[in-house]
Amino acid sequence: MSKIIKSKFKNKSYNIEIENNSVIKKLTKIIKDNNNNKVHIIIDKKVKYLIKNFKNYSNVNIILTNAGENIKSFNFYKKISNDIITYGIDRKSLLIGIGGGTIGDLSGFIAATILRGINFILIPTTLLSQVDSSVGGKNGINTIHGKNLIGTFYQPTKVIIDPAILNTLSNRELKSGYAEILKHALINDAKFFYWLEKYYKKILMLNKTTMEEAIYKSIKIKNKYILTDPEEKLVSENSRSMLNFGHTFGHALETFYKYKKKLTHGEAISIGMFMESKLSYSIGKLSKTDLNKIKNHLLNCGLPIKDKNSHSSIFFNILLKDKKNYGKNINLVLLKKIGKSYFKRNLNIKIIKQNII
Ligand SMILES: NC(=O)c1ccc[n+]([C@@H]2O[C@H](COP(=O)([O-])OP(=O)(O)OC[C@H]3O[C@@H](n4cnc5c(N)ncnc54)[C@H](O)[C@@H]3O)[C@@H](O)[C@H]2O)c1
Ligand SMILES: [Zn+2]
Repeated sequence: MSKIIKSKFKNKSYNIEIENNSVIKKLTKIIKDNNNNKVHIIIDKKVKYLIKNFKNYSNVNIILTNAGENIKSFNFYKKISNDIITYGIDRKSLLIGIGGGTIGDLSGFIAATILRGINFILIPTTLLSQVDSSVGGKNGINTIHGKNLIGTFYQPTKVIIDPAILNTLSNRELKSGYAEILKHALINDAKFFYWLEKYYKKILMLNKTTMEEAIYKSIKIKNKYILTDPEEKLVSENSRSMLNFGHTFGHALETFYKYKKKLTHGEAISIGMFMESKLSYSIGKLSKTDLNKIKNHLLNCGLPIKDKNSHSSIFFNILLKDKKNYGKNINLVLLKKIGKSYFKRNLNIKIIKQNII
């Protein structure tokens, strides 16, 4: 069944459409409707079957690429922007990004900056990108100094989500995306957490209707934060920053491993969520019962809860360099209980070290 979530901003509103087996039909219509315009498609090679019908269209420029953290770079930005400009572009041109979060972040950044912004449609093809990165308008590339340091807020004109695309995704990537679904439940919706406890097996086995429902529920939560705080300016419990739960420790681990394949983003934040839950418990906020529920759920899903380097001095040094921090104190999102998150400011690194062991 088709589901639509509306994302409404001051100067732009768009639909996030969720429907099984819909993407080829919808793409065909978009390309037909744009037959007088140039359409540039940046697509992950792994899902190139999605555009096989459009190869010979004279107005369609297909840019096939591998995915991965390395494409979120100045080099790829330059190469692909040049390809697009060489092919031909004007203010009516459309850019479609088809792939996981890395393709989405890169193509969103190109769409936002080329000619100071052109129409952009996003078709996420990993679970992580369907439930998380395709929603909210953040895009960006990495630098040698860290991840996502250059980017913009730029909302697409439409997001098309087709859970059937996930059939070819590896189990590891599937679980990685599931970690972000779980994050949404933990920060904001206890009922959703208990729903996930009941249905996680079906989701990980790609049951179509359950997956569609999980994606819908998850996006609803992310969208709520984004509509309240589109540019992450609030400092209350309604702040978009709540979505960073698990990410302070998770990003530090990713930086530790230099974004190599050792850990996926979802695995890193799974460990991050457990460490931050443990810290929430140790400083007296989260109950032992809730901590155990979180731990058991992560383990039941086959997600990691620890890493041998997450207590190393290099790891703590990386943590202190996080752009949200000052001096030896750390700002992060913790849990009061399952479904309720809050900002914890100026937590001293010594206390953190003592409490996560
Ligand atoms: N903009 C945001 O708000 C936001 C939010 C969360 C994460 N992110 C970013 O998202 C990125 C991670 O996203 P990701 O995990 O989707 O990464 P990804 O794009 O690297 O995709 C993961 C892997 O899945 C493969 N793949 C993609 N679709 C497939 C399919 N249907 N079948 C088989 N294989 C497929 C890719 O080729 C790649 O190997 C990170 O760079 C992260 O910073 C951005
Ligand atoms: Zn994430």
